[in-house]
Amino acid sequence: MKKILILFAHPAYQKSRINKALINQVKGIEGVTINNLYEKYPDFFIDVPVEQKLLLEHDIIIWHHPFYWYSAPAIIKEWMDLVLQHGFAYGTKGRALEGKWAISAISTGGRKTIYSESGDNHFTINQFLAPYNQSATLCRMKYLPPFVVHSSHTLTERDLQLHADDYQRMILSLRDEKYDETTFSEAEYINHIIPHDA
Ligand SMILES: Cc1cc2nc3c(=O)[nH]c(=O)nc-3n(C[C@H](O)[C@H](O)[C@H](O)COP(=O)(O)O)c2cc1C
Repeated sequence: MKKILILFAHPAYQKSRINKALINQVKGIEGVTINNLYEKYPDFFIDVPVEQKLLLEHDIIIWHHPFYWYSAPAIIKEWMDLVLQHGFAYGTKGRALEGKWAISAISTGGRKTIYSESGDNHFTINQFLAPYNQSATLCRMKYLPPFVVHSSHTLTERDLQLHADDYQRMILSLRDEKYDETTFSEAEYINHIIPHDA
């Protein structure tokens, strides 16, 4: 069984709909740690040794947040800047994360069709996520296709539940090693390749 660390960041969690639904659905699952960064570090003083220890204790790292300005809420960047240190996460002697898996789990206000070359946002989600992809690669991690929920503002209660169910199945499938790894390179989003027997 793989251990999963969810690095969760939402600066206005009380107002959240979709991310609250996703997080509520995976609370208390064995082998899954939810690390709520804004709750833990309201002053942004990230405890680097604590965060590095958490990384060492898990096999799969999830950057889970709403998509803000084509990227992440600020604490994710702060966490990356401080925790992914040279000599720990990267560099010739920085091999602490080697072989682990990393994945982004995001929600966007924008609908899927605007995330394309000819759409209003001009780039795909995977193009916007390039810094996370390459940061994971630099740290010798494998970056998986992202879990993405689009059109977050128009989701019905039923939609919220369906996405939450997908998120839970994805997490259980990752934990229980149910993924066919050959499908990762072909999938735009991991949502499309969630095994059905999770
Ligand atoms: C500061 C800010 C920046 C945002 N930037 C984007 C963006 O770049 N692209 C996008 O599709 N949605 C953007 N949104 C919309 C959020 O992604 C959306 O509110 C969020 O996914 C809803 O999740 P929640 O229900 O958990 O709050 C932004 C929202 C805020 C508040």
